[in-house]
Amino acid sequence: MTTHTKTNTLLSANNIGLSYGENIILRDINFCIKDIVRPGMQQGQVVSLIGRSGIGKTQLFKILSGLQQPSNGTVTIHDNEQVKAGDMGVIFQNYYLFEWRTVYQSLLLAAVKNPLIKGKEKEMIEQYAQSFQLTDALKKYPQQLSGGQRQRASIIQQLLKGSNFLLLDEPFSGLDVCVLDKVTDLLLQVSTSDELKTLIIVSHDIATSVAISDTVLIMGNEIGKPGATIKKEIDLIERDLAWKKDIKKEKAFTDTVEEIKRCL
Ligand SMILES: Nc1ncnc2c1ncn2[C@@H]1O[C@H](COP(=O)(O)OP(=O)(O)OP(=O)(O)O)[C@@H](O)[C@H]1O
Ligand SMILES: [Mg+2]
Repeated sequence: MTTHTKTNTLLSANNIGLSYGENIILRDINFCIKDIVRPGMQQGQVVSLIGRSGIGKTQLFKILSGLQQPSNGTVTIHDNEQVKAGDMGVIFQNYYLFEWRTVYQSLLLAAVKNPLIKGKEKEMIEQYAQSFQLTDALKKYPQQLSGGQRQRASIIQQLLKGSNFLLLDEPFSGLDVCVLDKVTDLLLQVSTSDELKTLIIVSHDIATSVAISDTVLIMGNEIGKPGATIKKEIDLIERDLAWKKDIKKEKAFTDTVEEIKRCL
């Protein structure tokens, strides 16, 4: 197994609950994400949140990003600081971009919010555009882009803002197999771009999520209890299933995918 240690807590969800009136959506959600340290590597964290449609993934996603208040509990980041809107880079499924601005103009708006790249905004945009194969799209308007290009522009937009946390809602849906491989590589590239970079991916696509994550959180209902909770946490590093190319061919991988399906 690859040598690693889990050190400081980067994010902690503490007893999260969410109800609308009498309707309990989420209950007793507890988990924490720790900094994974690997000798000689810049290793970020990739956590997948998997669950059936309608279980409450997007609701939890909004709570984790500080965009929605839970009915109970807290989400803390850094040193026990409560998360607030704007702390995290949030990439929604519809890849929100300003339709009346060119991609470059949209990206510039994001870049000027990050004091760490002051004076280097143009250079950073060009660098990201090049590594995400989006140079030609910079002068275009969002409606002139393909779905995959919009997604990459949206990811760059959030990366430019500089947050260590990136939350992605269904980043693999509607992609063909070739684009899917590219997006997977891209997210892995992002996850190793900074020691503290932490990706939280909400997805239905079990196999793709497991293939790029170090941890899987399974959301579901427990018999006799209302609301969804985290039914199981799978540490893919312990199973020697993290950070490997061609992992999908291994038996332990397909066994884990089946185990997750049974748990949903
Ligand atoms: N404003 C609201 N008022 C009442 N109930 C809501 C509200 N928003 C969402 N819900 C309910 O919360 C539950 C969870 O919804 P959510 O969108 O989080 O599901 P999901 O797991 O993301 O589903 P999908 O995989 O289809 O995106 C659903 O039953 C939904 O009807
Ligand atoms: Mg959803």
